[in-house]
Amino acid sequence: MRGAAVLLLLVLIAGSYSCGRTTRIASLTPAVSAQPLQPTKSSGPRIDFATQVKPILEAKCQGCHFSGGKMYDKLPFDRPETIKSLGTKLFTRIHDENERKVIREFLAQE
Ligand code: HEC
Repeated sequence: MRGAAVLLLLVLIAGSYSCGRTTRIASLTPAVSAQPLQPTKSSGPRIDFATQVKPILEAKCQGCHFSGGKMYDKLPFDRPETIKSLGTKLFTRIHDENERKVIREFLAQE
């Protein structure tokens, strides 16, 4: 009877020890898994300057705003910066609505 009581006591002690240990391990686990999630941007597919915007300008403005043209030094249209800084001023000479749409979306990108 006494042996059983001691055994019960030992089981209780062992139980509380292991309990303490599992609690400590459990309290460490969230710190490891709490990685900040990357915010996902909800914007659609990006407009690529070289393959989507430049061809529009090349087709119409080639003679003057591209390499060798008289406006290439001041307003080079093969550079995205030029297009960004001109913005909708380009629309004084680009009237096609589909082409404007591509350029507008390009301008809206950061
Ligand atoms: C025949 C040569 C020539 C072609 C082709 C040409 N440009 Fe120009 N562009 C010029 C010259 C010269 C200037 C500077 C004088 C002026 O403002 O007209 C200029 C200036 C500009 C300007 C800045 C002045 C403004 O109007 O606000 C923009 C924007 C512009 N061009 C857009 C275009 C676009 C877009 C195309 C093609 C659809 C184009 N250009 C084709 C010669 C040309």
